[in-house]
Amino acid sequence: TWTTGNVIEEQVAAIRELVGDKRAICGLSGGVDSAVAAALVARAIGDQLTCVYVDHGLMRKGETEQVEKDFVAATGVKLVVVDAEERFLTALKGVSDPEQKRKTIGREFIRVFEQAQAEIIADEGPAVEFLVQGTLYPDVVESGGGTGTANIKSHHNVGGLPEDLEFQLIEPLRKLFKDEVRMVGQELGLPEEIVQRQPFPGPGLGIRIVGEVTKERLDLLRDADAIAREELTAAGLDREIWQCPVVLLADVRSVGVQGDGRTYGHPIVLRPVSSEDAMTADWSRLPYDVLAKISTRITNEVRDVNRVVVDVTSKPPGTIEWE
Ligand code: XMP
Repeated sequence: TWTTGNVIEEQVAAIRELVGDKRAICGLSGGVDSAVAAALVARAIGDQLTCVYVDHGLMRKGETEQVEKDFVAATGVKLVVVDAEERFLTALKGVSDPEQKRKTIGREFIRVFEQAQAEIIADEGPAVEFLVQGTLYPDVVESGGGTGTANIKSHHNVGGLPEDLEFQLIEPLRKLFKDEVRMVGQELGLPEEIVQRQPFPGPGLGIRIVGEVTKERLDLLRDADAIAREELTAAGLDREIWQCPVVLLADVRSVGVQGDGRTYGHPIVLRPVSSEDAMTADWSRLPYDVLAKISTRITNEVRDVNRVVVDVTSKPPGTIEWE
């Protein structure tokens, strides 16, 4: 029978045997999945694991600081932070096709890991042969991973991997759903703020800008997203909704009026959903006063945004993310 204790025991034993006296690195995305995967592998092989957090410049406000502080405090794990914003923005220049974005981001992720690996190896310790990933069962299914299912999206950590990958993968959560991953994380002693975090996609805000990704657009979306999150938290809705992507329709403009003048700005989409496992989802019926507050604040405080709309589509037919 399935218990979190069993899963942990089984994985810890298997990982120990697999890794032996070699070393592993693990990419942290700031999300629950990679945090739990890292904590699980850390339990198995201790400081043979080094975590690498790639700041790709596609994170939300305050997210990098959160990983640096909360996660390290909770696990004591070795963490290297790589500032790769410029590299990602350069790679994403001119890219507006969703699949191409995902593949570009996935590829750059791995390249940065390989660099980090080279740097870690330079310390003359044992070889770094393994890459830990927080891939979940739904990621595998939706990327068509050996199931014969049609490919829906290339999750950056499954379909987006380059073919000449230098690492052997360790994916201890590959058979689990999100709620099970949370239970495992709890059992491993991770704090609530990490275990109960709403999901956030590895490609970050890059797949929440419909259109080309630029620094300016990212900053704009970061501001809008921070406002939405702040108000949802203030309204006590964090546990009720599964997640609420905030999307910038960067290639769309509409006419508005603000103060005494015409505006021609971008719409921001709020995509609050409720779900059990992200395989299906329903749009969340958020209280009107919360929506009103978010809308007023975003249009007042974020330059170049003159309209806020709510996505009322279930999954299916919509996916949770817009790209
Ligand atoms: P979709 O958009 O496919 O999203 O309905 C389902 C869930 O997965 C998250 N998501 C991702 N997570 N890498 C991730 O780690 C990805 O490439 C990715 N794409 C989507 C999404 O936020 C939702 O929770």
